[in-house]
This record gives sequence, structure tokens and C-alpha cells, in this order.
Amino acid sequence: MHISNEEKDAVYKTIYNRRDTRGEFLDEEIDDKVINKLLDAAHHAPSVGFMQPWDFIVVKDKKIKQAIKNGFQVAHDEAKEMFDNEKRDVYKTLKLEGIEEAPIGICITCDRSRSGDTVIGRTANLEMDLYSSVCAVQTLWLAARAENLGVGWVSIIHHEVLRNVLDIPEDIMPIAYLCIGKVSHFHDKPELEKAGWLPRIDLDDLVHYDSWNNKKS
Ligand SMILES: Cc1cc2nc3c(=O)[nH]c(=O)nc-3n(C[C@H](O)[C@H](O)[C@H](O)COP(=O)(O)O)c2cc1C
Repeated sequence: MHISNEEKDAVYKTIYNRRDTRGEFLDEEIDDKVINKLLDAAHHAPSVGFMQPWDFIVVKDKKIKQAIKNGFQVAHDEAKEMFDNEKRDVYKTLKLEGIEEAPIGICITCDRSRSGDTVIGRTANLEMDLYSSVCAVQTLWLAARAENLGVGWVSIIHHEVLRNVLDIPEDIMPIAYLCIGKVSHFHDKPELEKAGWLPRIDLDDLVHYDSWNNKKS
């Protein structure tokens, strides 16, 4: 199937305009049909040995969101102590989740034994199944952006909290908790870039040719 120039432009537009959303969620429902489209897109992500190790827990219940927010708060308070003075002051000003404001939460997991112990492509590097679930996250993120929905990845939470609150079995690994919803607007740049936390690195500094030691600049 050939991708037309117009379609190609739309893909790049989606990639460059995808943002992590925390503070711009609107108090508006998302149609279940759209949620299912996002989940189906995620389910078409690549996976090692076609293992499809993901499950999706869709969260709408306010009490569950509240429990997740409490878990965030604990990890967030711990995090504040981990940065040096100057960064700590900036860290405290950042909004790093939209758990209760977003109409939908989706937890994406990884079932590490979904297709048995020996998986094509996971024989030398066991963590490939985890990366596969991350591919599902990114695919959902881009599909959501194409639907003009914001997504925020909340990683400042201990996995045990997600396990307990969402009844995730011991042998299933939580990979991501995502907040999803309609937004007032998308930022034109990463918020951490805008806040002066870190700049975007020059691509030339990251590309090596034939050897780690050989870069353009
Ligand atoms: C694995 C992962 C975990 C993240 N966890 C958080 C988080 O807990 N809170 C948050 O505000 N942003 C989180 N982010 C979003 C990043 O801060 C964001 O992607 C980055 O600053 C670039 O901004 P952009 O996504 O808007 O381009 C996470 C992103 C990734 C990929």
C-alpha cells in the first residue's frame, strides 16, 4: 500500500506535534469508539516474536483515579528530595500529571510469559518484550494525537501502587499509566524545554557513523 505525499505529511505533522499533556485536559468525555480505535492502533504495534505482550486497563472510575493520584503524590514527594537545590525549586513548579482531570486513564502492561519461555527475537535479550509494550504506548500516543487527544505518561508512581489499585497479577509488569483526554491546546514544544529544564539535543551530536567514535561534529 502506497502512502501518498499528503498522508506522509500528516504522519510527520502528528509526530512533531505530539506532546506529553498534563495541565490542559478538558472536562469532556471521549467517545468509547475513539478509545477503541486507540486501543486497536496500540494492538497493531510491533512486538518481539509477534508476542503481543500487552494488556490495556481502561480507567474511568474517579475513586481509582484518586488512588492513583495518591500514589503519584507519594512518589512525587520522594522525587523532590532527589534533585539538587536549583533543580529542586524548578521541579516543584512543574505539573507532572493530569490523573484526575483526564477523563480516561489507560494502564498498559506486559505479560512476560504470554507465548512461553522461548520467544523468537527474545532469545539473546530478555527485555525485548518490555520494549514491545513500550511500542504499544508510542503507537497509542501517536494515534491519540491524530485524534487531537492529549496523552500524558505518568511514571512517577511505584509499580506496586498500580498493581494494588488495578489488581494487576504478580507476573504481569505495569509498563505505563497514561492520562488521555481532549485538551484546550497542545504546547508547541516540550514543557520541560520551555521550563528550561533541558534543551533539545542537536541531532548531529547523537548520530554516529560506522563507529561510536565517528560523529559529524
Ligand atoms: C517513559 C516516559 C515516562 C514519562 N513520565 C512522565 C511523568 O511521570 N510525568 C510527566 O509529566 N511527564 C512524563 N513523561 C513525558 C516527558 O517528560 C516528555 O515526553 C518529554 O519532556 C518531551 O516532551 P513531549 O513528550 O511533550 O515532546 C514521560 C515520558 C516518557 C517517554
